Amino acid sequence: MSSEHPETPAAPEPPVIDEPTISAAVEAALAAIAAAPDTAALKQVRIEHVGDASVLSRANRAIRDLPGPQKAAAGKLVGQGKGRVQQALASRQEELAAAEQEAALAAETVDVTLPTDRRPRGAVHPLTTLQERIEDFFVGIGWEIAEGPEVESSWFNFDALNADPEHPSRSRQDTLYVASAEGGEDQDAGLLLRTQTSPVQIRAMLERGAPLYVACPGTVYRADEMDATHSPMFHQVEGLAIDEGLTMANLVGTLDAFAAALFGGAPITRLRPNHFPFTEPSAEMDFRCFACDARLGLDHEPDPGCRVCGGTGWIEMGGCGMVHPNVLRAAGIDPGRHQGFAFGLGIERILMLRNGVADMRDMVEGDVRFTQHYGTEI
Ligand code: DAH
Repeated sequence: MSSEHPETPAAPEPPVIDEPTISAAVEAALAAIAAAPDTAALKQVRIEHVGDASVLSRANRAIRDLPGPQKAAAGKLVGQGKGRVQQALASRQEELAAAEQEAALAAETVDVTLPTDRRPRGAVHPLTTLQERIEDFFVGIGWEIAEGPEVESSWFNFDALNADPEHPSRSRQDTLYVASAEGGEDQDAGLLLRTQTSPVQIRAMLERGAPLYVACPGTVYRADEMDATHSPMFHQVEGLAIDEGLTMANLVGTLDAFAAALFGGAPITRLRPNHFPFTEPSAEMDFRCFACDARLGLDHEPDPGCRVCGGTGWIEMGGCGMVHPNVLRAAGIDPGRHQGFAFGLGIERILMLRNGVADMRDMVEGDVRFTQHYGTEI
């Protein structure tokens, strides 16, 4: 590469325009072009050998000052020489650019067979997905979602819900009591891990008043050993509607729509008499077996071999009823004016039935394969 800077003004001396000078300039240019290792170097070669300050360009400019008869021969000599250099530049440029592109492509090649360094992302737990689906149903029919604390006072969990002071569910065999911060012990402190989501009914009535339409999903606790069908911690969803003139027909209509949203099939709910302290009348609610419906159509006899309903054609879902006047009173609502219906059911049980989970322990063991299998549902 020359030390001559491209912007250096042309030497004042007019160049000699003769065959040896021009040939030498052309040969020097061709040699430099051939030797240029890459397009950047070639650019310099172009400036040096055909740029304004180069011998060939200066010679070209000098032609116009030559006496007339010499112009043609000099023009041909310089023009041909410059032409050869330009051609060599163009083909070398093409050659080098192609090589450079090939090298770039080779360098950027991605080996799709290499192991990924991306960490597995896990999945939303199927209980969470199901709870959100349940919330979506209730929000879709215009209800609100209400929540309450998991450490609850026994007044909310039992007394306000009309449970007898001697009700067996209050015993330590069923309920997990919590010591208070002041040092009160167990049952005396009046604090417990809520055994049901029903206390959220009371909180919602006290906080929001009537009319009221709320669904209350949440975690509940019982003094149970973990096995395939029991867990000391599980989830329930509670429904509560308080308004003027509500009857059990409104309850059944709501349950029908809920059953259809959860399981599809024929949205038919069946109520059987039962007793709960906080509802009167109270009922056990069954949903028509969606698995029988799916297999046998809507107009079917129970299938004795059905693994979901055990051949009865019905699935037990939980409890329900008309809110007991004592409960309305405890929550500051006038039973003479407002009536209400309520229901409560276990979310684990819904997941087991709906997704064929046979063992509750699978839901708490934290094996990501379980979660991924069920939990990526959208
Ligand atoms: N709280 C009851 C339980 O845990 C379920 C229940 C029954 C909720 C009847 C209700 C209801 O709202 O009306 O077993």
